[in-house]
Amino acid sequence: MPNHPQAEIAIIGGSGLYEIQGFSESAVVDIDTPYGKPSDVITVGELLDVPVAFLPRHGRGHRVSPTELPFRANIYALKTLGVKQIVSVSAVGSGDVSVVSSDLVVPDQLIDRTRFRDSTFFEGGVVAHITFADPFCPAVSNAIAAGGDGQGIPTHEGATLVVMEGPAFSTRAESEMYRSWGGDLIGMTALPEAKLAREAEMCYGTMAWVTDYDCWHPDHAAVTVDMVVENLIANIANSRIILRQIVPALAQLGPCDCQTALANAIITDKYHISDEAR
Ligand code: ADE
Repeated sequence: MPNHPQAEIAIIGGSGLYEIQGFSESAVVDIDTPYGKPSDVITVGELLDVPVAFLPRHGRGHRVSPTELPFRANIYALKTLGVKQIVSVSAVGSGDVSVVSSDLVVPDQLIDRTRFRDSTFFEGGVVAHITFADPFCPAVSNAIAAGGDGQGIPTHEGATLVVMEGPAFSTRAESEMYRSWGGDLIGMTALPEAKLAREAEMCYGTMAWVTDYDCWHPDHAAVTVDMVVENLIANIANSRIILRQIVPALAQLGPCDCQTALANAIITDKYHISDEAR
């Protein structure tokens, strides 16, 4: 196995975030995994003297649609580099009238509306049921929120993110349904990313930038790609500023429960049910 450079912190960049300011790149890693190639090469380097790995989720130039993203290869590749904490950056629509474009939201819950994605590493005879009640790492999420607050960016902590399959945006009926379920945000990429990160015993938090009101708001036009990209570009500079604050904070964190998520999750002989008890 080749000797890859190691980094305990990874950033999965969303659309438009293809490089990080002040990042001194030391290696470009082209990894093959049992699940194929990741979305793109991974750059490893230092941000403020902290080793960091960077992977653009959709590939540089946004070449891969959410349904086709190699989620398992991405997480497996980051694990190979020694990553323990992932900060993922993504664009989301808002289901909440008080959460407006360019606000930063740090979600703490997920609702899975994806359908066509490989969402586990456990198959083919190895059974594991990870605990996923709280899908985001509280420590990484706190660091992201502190970064937003510290920079004076309107930041909301704790929100339910509905992850839909796409690539088409939602209908008005779906948008209203998600709101009635308590969905504060709508996006296309946090799942299965968060689930696979937990299975791989990595901490995972999301920096979600609001770009639109999806299609439920009577005073706002239904979401379009132009709307998302325009608002996203405005947020990229803020992402870069916050990342410079978050990365040194993450480097100070100690071990976390996310990093032992498999301790009681794998079905082994320990769970053998005797013939008499059946
Ligand atoms: N990403 C940004 N805005 C979105 C929306 N309204 N629905 C799904 N994904 C999005």
